[in-house]
Amino acid sequence: MKTADKLNIIIAGTGYVGLTTGLALGYLGHNVTCVDNNTALIDKLERGISTIFEPGLEELLRDNSDDVSFTEELFEDLPRADIVIIAVGTPSKKNGDTDLSFVEAVARNIGAAMNTEHPPVIINKSTVPIGTARRVETVIKEVLERRGAACSFCVASNPEFLREGAALHDTFYPDRIVVGTEDVQALNLIRQMYAPILEQTFTPPQAVPRPEGYSLPALVTTSPTSAELIKYTANAFLATKISFINEFAAIAEKVGADINEVAKGIGLDKRIGPGFLKAGVGWGGSCFPKDVRSILFTSSQYNCELQLVQAALEVNRRQRKKVIEKLQQTLKVIRGSTIGLLGLAFKPNTDDIRESPAIDVIQELLDMGARVKVYDPIAREKYKLAYPEQNIVYCNSAAEAAQESDAVVLLTDWDEFWHLPWEKIGDSMSQKIIVDGRNMLNSDELRQLGFTYTGIGR
Ligand code: UDX
Repeated sequence: MKTADKLNIIIAGTGYVGLTTGLALGYLGHNVTCVDNNTALIDKLERGISTIFEPGLEELLRDNSDDVSFTEELFEDLPRADIVIIAVGTPSKKNGDTDLSFVEAVARNIGAAMNTEHPPVIINKSTVPIGTARRVETVIKEVLERRGAACSFCVASNPEFLREGAALHDTFYPDRIVVGTEDVQALNLIRQMYAPILEQTFTPPQAVPRPEGYSLPALVTTSPTSAELIKYTANAFLATKISFINEFAAIAEKVGADINEVAKGIGLDKRIGPGFLKAGVGWGGSCFPKDVRSILFTSSQYNCELQLVQAALEVNRRQRKKVIEKLQQTLKVIRGSTIGLLGLAFKPNTDDIRESPAIDVIQELLDMGARVKVYDPIAREKYKLAYPEQNIVYCNSAAEAAQESDAVVLLTDWDEFWHLPWEKIGDSMSQKIIVDGRNMLNSDELRQLGFTYTGIGR
């Protein structure tokens, strides 16, 4: 990148979105300061240690040390900033509404230290309810007023669409970049920030190669409100797509069809597409559950019921219970049995356990009087910290979790579960029962080995 195009960017929040975006923009040649008020996180990042498990992140952190700095202090670099990206957490409140206190705290800090001669463009990247771009603008204006200062500045909405486990890939090679602003100057600056991605002029980092046949991403420019709604619509649609296939998994079971075959058969229709049609224990993570609840809350405020999205949420709740029902069908009595559980993370390639199906399944098994042994390649420590009250046995391998178990339940489709030595594992189990919550195992092979295999909709 030419130096003239180099922008000074501040990212507030070093979670999945903030850290990934910051490291990617630094790699693309911008001057990036990542800010977080969590001292322990900043300490680690300064030492080049990634605070989250995400493929490629550690390499980028190591190679990027000249372009990206980490600090707890938002004020230091603010006067020189061209762009400030807000990427702090927006957790759910109990009623489904979104807690904007972190976003508003950043807005107040921006207002307090903003250089009115050179106001930065402010970008909302956190997933936020409709109207938050305007809310951030109001909060900043209030603080400026108290300072006796004033200037015109822009708050744009620029939602992220990155998947955990593929966060850097999705940042460098997005399908589209959505920018919601009516301010042409701000739009031009944001376009400049993303130019290397929009034009794919950068040399791909070794750990994040450009996919073959990748074509340039579209820049979708909209009003801030449309951009905010695009994010919720995308996540609600994807969550509904998964719940849709899960609902059909139930009918597939009744009529004796295989939902994997059905998904393939419909996914090849270009109007439907093959993605997000994997039936299983349902969706979890930091986004789908929270965003679905949030848009349902917004819709209720407008008295505009989103019936399909509500149903998708219900189907997802039911899906987690399926695993227990299947165990009851095969084992008959769960009390007193030992269950080996494979996978704690809400999906593979991440150690994130937020709203993971494993949490509910484990709790239900414990409530029913089972002994639970678990194995996950990397999410174990996070799970242990988050759920110390659950009395479970942590194992170092899938084989160890299965040993002397009455049934194995697979909940996360980690790659290593493709190639488990099932014959040997079967010999060590008390009963050879498998409930495959992700439909990833070879049912024919397992049945030949003497297992009682049940998937979801197969
Ligand atoms: C999601 C969106 O994909 C991303 O665009 C957004 O910005 C953040 O939320 P993420 O939560 O990282 O990303 O995971 P994703 O890959 O979308 O999976 C979400 C959940 O759905 C996982 O629990 C996954 O196991 C489940 N899933 C996904 C299915 O059950 N079936 C599928 O076919 C796909």
